Amino acid sequence: MIKIVENKISVDDFNYLTDKVGWGTREFKVVEEALNNTLYSVSVYDDNKIIGYGRIIGDKTIFLYIQDIMVVPEYKGQKVGTKIMNELLKKVDEYKKVNSNIRTYLGASKGKEKFYEKFGFKTRSSADLGEGMVLF
Ligand SMILES: CC(C)(COP(=O)(O)OP(=O)(O)OC[C@H]1O[C@@H](n2cnc3c(N)ncnc32)[C@H](O)[C@@H]1OP(=O)(O)O)[C@@H](O)C(=O)NCCC(=O)NCCS
Repeated sequence: MIKIVENKISVDDFNYLTDKVGWGTREFKVVEEALNNTLYSVSVYDDNKIIGYGRIIGDKTIFLYIQDIMVVPEYKGQKVGTKIMNELLKKVDEYKKVNSNIRTYLGASKGKEKFYEKFGFKTRSSADLGEGMVLF
């Protein structure tokens, strides 16, 4: 049975998922620190097997970032991503109680924009804002 829970994922599960979706893995201590500094996260399990994940990072009142939305390929197209986004957006609504103008960003991978548009996200270029930028 598929269930979604609010939890802190283990480093091994996180690396398992990033690998499954094609992003590779990172050193244990790098992931551990990132997860320790995560504001909120949800994991999706089929029985006890991890199949999906998403997290929010940010300062809780002015800026939030939705990160690492992952669904293992075998479960794609079964609304698992939707469940993850809905849970994260419920949490965003809670943060909005402190500052209703909180701004929630995400960096969509190329080709995934349509998925996020379903939840009201707009590409910055069509919203009278500059392009999103990143430093590698
Ligand atoms: C992107 C991802 C999270 C979507 O998860 P999912 O569980 O397959 O999506 P859902 O089944 O909840 O799809 C919800 C809707 O979005 C649409 N959708 C999903 N992925 C899409 C895509 N890449 N492009 C356009 N539409 C997409 C679905 O068709 C569905 O539409 P519907 O509501 O009209 O039926 C998943 O494909 C994934 O983990 N990909 C690999 C990792 C990744 O790229 N993450 C995103 C980083 S920004």
